[in-house]
Amino acid sequence: MSTRSRLIDIIAGARPNFMKVAPLIKALQAREAEGGPLRYRLVHTGQHYDPRMSGEFFAQLGIPEPDVNLEVGSGTQAEQAAGIMVGYEKLLLAAPSQLCLVVGDVTSTMACAIAAQKLHVPVAHVEAGIRSGDWGMPEEINRMVTDAITNWFFTTSEVANANLRAAGIPDERIFFVGNTMIDTLLANIDRLRPPAFVDELGLQAGGYFVLTLHRPSNVDTAGHFANLLQAIAEATRGLPVVFPVHPRTAKTLRELDGFPPSIHLVDPQPYLEFNWLVKHAKGVITDSGGVTEETTVTGVPCMTLRTTTERPETVTIGTNELLGTDPAALKPALDRLFAGEWKGGAIPELWDGKTAPRIVAALEKLLA
Ligand code: UD1
Repeated sequence: MSTRSRLIDIIAGARPNFMKVAPLIKALQAREAEGGPLRYRLVHTGQHYDPRMSGEFFAQLGIPEPDVNLEVGSGTQAEQAAGIMVGYEKLLLAAPSQLCLVVGDVTSTMACAIAAQKLHVPVAHVEAGIRSGDWGMPEEINRMVTDAITNWFFTTSEVANANLRAAGIPDERIFFVGNTMIDTLLANIDRLRPPAFVDELGLQAGGYFVLTLHRPSNVDTAGHFANLLQAIAEATRGLPVVFPVHPRTAKTLRELDGFPPSIHLVDPQPYLEFNWLVKHAKGVITDSGGVTEETTVTGVPCMTLRTTTERPETVTIGTNELLGTDPAALKPALDRLFAGEWKGGAIPELWDGKTAPRIVAALEKLLA
């Protein structure tokens, strides 16, 4: 490495991180090829470790093998956070970097930010400033803790900028750059491909739904989860509902006596297959945050089974609506969709596929 080069740790831990780091790595590689000063080290914490939750995303999105894997594996929130902090601190002590770049709001994001900042390694947070206001979600704690010790904030929306300003962050540390997750979606939109089961299930474009659920409030109690599935099947009027099952959700599903026949359980889908399913669906029912951003860009009607969102622009600008967690809310919402009355949407500012190069350009100046 030349004396002017700077090493950035890029932290990736769980499934929703991988599509956010992919364009950053591509942008860093492109600048390096042009003689740019930044180098990176890809650190996988091992929070998600199943090939279906991790490895397949690396392969499809062309993410290089991690330089380091901390292999933290499953555990409670504290066990995972502690394991990641210990592992990442060891790495930084043995081989320091000049910046820790974290994305999103998972446990790995917070744990690495803490370990880095305590060793005086500055932290950059991509997707900073978003807030649900719901302290019952581990992700909200992760967002607040991470942003409390972040040096440079890369944001997806004016709402995020306003949240940071309200917390006293000066404008010169806030960079409104757009959405790296959408960089990945737009870069891959022509590569999306159907999963093998499409014909077997007889899925027709606009004739089925996609369902994803993994929040503790929806899936950790068997009775509530069963009621939700029943309400979903009734409200979707017997159309096929494709349900890629997250490992957390699979645990509760095993406790249920059965579920409606129109709900088809499938494995967690790789990126290209999942977004193909979403793009051609009549609608999406979800409790994810990232999926609501993707449906905003593809214009697919989205119903979120949560009471809050940290991504309000998916509702105010996009096609998303918050239904809450009461199963009774599903039927009236889906009746509107079947009646052709779902709102249209637009694409939020700077969700244009060029966010990662903007971040890399800013980092070159900040680390000069
Ligand atoms: C995590 C993130 C959440 C994100 C979600 C997407 C936090 C606090 N939450 O939640 O923001 O939306 O990922 O997937 O970081 N498991 C496996 N295989 C794996 C990974 C997990 O079997 O590859 C099991 C774990 O053992 C655990 C459960 O799935 O029992 C939950 O995993 P965990 O990483 O704790 O959190 P998620 O619920 O996936």
